[in-house]
Amino acid sequence: MEELVQQIEQLKQEINEYQSVSAELTEAFRIKYLGTKGIVKNIMGEMKNVPNDRKKEFGQILNEFKVFAESKYEFLKESTNGSTKASATIDWSLPGDPVGVGSRHPLSLVRNQIVSIFKRLGFAVAEGPEIEDDWHNFGAMNLPEDHPARDMQDTFYIHKDPSWLLRTHTSSVQARVMEKQKPPIRVICPGRVYRNETVSARAHCFFHQVEGLYIDEHVSFADLKQTLYFFVQEMFGKDVKVRFRPSYFPFTEPSAEMDISCLICGGEGCNVCKHTGWVEILGSGMVHPKVLENFGIDPNKYTGFAFGMGVERIAQLKYQVNDLRLYSQNDIRFLKQFTGAV
Ligand code: PHE
Repeated sequence: MEELVQQIEQLKQEINEYQSVSAELTEAFRIKYLGTKGIVKNIMGEMKNVPNDRKKEFGQILNEFKVFAESKYEFLKESTNGSTKASATIDWSLPGDPVGVGSRHPLSLVRNQIVSIFKRLGFAVAEGPEIEDDWHNFGAMNLPEDHPARDMQDTFYIHKDPSWLLRTHTSSVQARVMEKQKPPIRVICPGRVYRNETVSARAHCFFHQVEGLYIDEHVSFADLKQTLYFFVQEMFGKDVKVRFRPSYFPFTEPSAEMDISCLICGGEGCNVCKHTGWVEILGSGMVHPKVLENFGIDPNKYTGFAFGMGVERIAQLKYQVNDLRLYSQNDIRFLKQFTGAV
């Protein structure tokens, strides 16, 4: 009997030290200790040789041993993936599951690119609120109340107080800069803007702009042209051509829209350029003296130019996206195509 107790102690130690790295080894443990011809069963069989008066004591020891072996088996099973099937064997040397890496939104990519080009020319970045007052969005920009030019930029007004609105352009940020800063001023204003438009492939009730403002002594239309020409060459490549068409904006005089040669057909004429060979990309002009006066800047001493472009428009040309709605639908199949773009 004493011998048996000693044997059990030894076996317990053996079990304690047993290690398994695979489902096969765990199964081997089960067969060796807990199987129908296993060690535990075998020792149980010794019960009949134990004298009657010690049966109770020995019974307890045996039971403890059985529970000990069983719990070790449960532990091994768990650590080798809870299965005893050979097919569930884990190969720890395999590479891990790949972690999905996101991508920047195409509009962020293009905005960052626009910003970095102008930064190299010494433009600082200015930002302002999307909920704006009438003065900064319209009044200060030479768009007085009831002026017909306001029809070009209808927006959403705050119900309780219609002197608050969602800004229609980031010119409102230029207004805020001129309010605080004395010339020379050289800023670009990226941001989201809103218009009361029916949503379609070509128009949306919100979109993104980068506007720019440069005010100093002797700033001329030649500076405007050269700055914007540099920008498009950096953005679209050295071969791109530009042309300016006279236009109208209340806050600039003279005003011009700038077209670039169509990148799709190289100027031959296609659907994108509506067979003209040119695509419009931005509005620009010399800051209207009235706007300068609104901010106490002397128009006889200072002149300036301003421009504004739609980020969606630039992204559309760069990536040939032909439906504006794609930018805000969050369709993963669309967004995934920009993985790796910088
Ligand atoms: N604010 C104009 C718009 O949103 C763009 C623009 C800016 C035009 C500056 C000329 C000068 O349409």
